[in-house]
Amino acid sequence: MSIALIPGAAGGLGRAVLTRLAARGVACAAVSRSAERLADVEAGARICADVSTFDGAATAVAQCRDQLGLPTLLVHCPGTILLAPAHRTSEAQWRDTLAASLDSAFFTLRAWSAALLAAKSPGAAVFVSTVAAQIGVANHEAIAAAKGGIEAMVRSAAATYAPHGLRINAVATGLMDTPLAAGLLRSEAMREASAKQYPLGGIGSADELASLIDWLLGDDAQRVTGQVWSVDGGFTAIRPLVR
Ligand SMILES: NC(=O)c1ccc[n+]([C@@H]2O[C@H](COP(=O)([O-])OP(=O)(O)OC[C@H]3O[C@@H](n4cnc5c(N)ncnc54)[C@H](OP(=O)(O)O)[C@@H]3O)[C@@H](O)[C@H]2O)c1
Repeated sequence: MSIALIPGAAGGLGRAVLTRLAARGVACAAVSRSAERLADVEAGARICADVSTFDGAATAVAQCRDQLGLPTLLVHCPGTILLAPAHRTSEAQWRDTLAASLDSAFFTLRAWSAALLAAKSPGAAVFVSTVAAQIGVANHEAIAAAKGGIEAMVRSAAATYAPHGLRINAVATGLMDTPLAAGLLRSEAMREASAKQYPLGGIGSADELASLIDWLLGDDAQRVTGQVWSVDGGFTAIRPLVR
C-alpha cells in the first residue's frame, strides 16, 4: 500500500487531495500545526507539526514513518494569499508569506528526500504554486516571490533526485474556492468579477486540482518530472478574445 504525507491537510486543497488518495487505497498522514483543525480529518495518521520550521518538517516525516511507514508520496499544500503591493507589505507579512509557502516547501522537501534516499526508495512529490508566479499580476509581489521560489526549487530538485527515482512536480492554480479564498469570493458580485479574469470563466475547485495532483503522483505520470502544471482557466497561457 502507498503512503502519502500531506502537510496542509486541514486546508481546502489538502482535504480534497486526502479524499482522492484515500479513495484509491493510499494511506494518508495528515499534517497541521493545529490538532483542533485535524480533529475532523479522516486519515491513517494525524500529525501535529509546523513544517515551516526545519525541525517541524523533520518531525512530520519521522512521525509518518513511525505511525504508517515511509511516505513515498508527498503533497505539500501549505500556503497563503497576500494581496498587497510591495510598498504596503510589512516585514511580518513578507516573512509569514515566505514561511508558509517557501520555507515549508524547502524544509519538507529536505526531510522527505533524505528519508527516501536513506531507504533507497523511489517516490513522487507535488508542490503548489500560483498563476502569479508565472505572469505579472499586480499586488502579488510577496506571494509571487514565494511561489516562484517553489517552482525553481521543484526544477532543481527534480534534476537532483531523478537518478534516485524521485519525481518532483508542481501545480499552479488560479483562484480556487477554498477557505483561503473565502474573503475574495464572499459575495456573488465578487465571484462574478473574479470569474471574468479567466478566459474559460468560473472559479477553480480544490477537487479539480486534487485530480491533477493524484495523476501526477501515479504510475500514469511515471515519466513526468520537473514540470509546473497550470490549472487556471487559461489565465497564464492565452489572451481572452476581446469582442
Ligand atoms: N485558494 C486559492 O485561491 C489559491 C490560489 C493560489 C494558490 N493557492 C495555494 O494552494 C495551496 C492550498 O491552499 P488552500 O486554498 O487549500 O488554503 P487553506 O484552506 O487556507 O489551506 C492552507 C494550509 O496552509 C497551512 N499554512 C498556512 N500558513 C502556514 C504557515 N505559516 N506554516 C505552515 N502551514 C501554514 C495551513 O495549515 P494549518 O492547518 O497548519 O493551519 C492550511 O491548512 C496553498 O499553497 C496556497 O498558497 C491557493
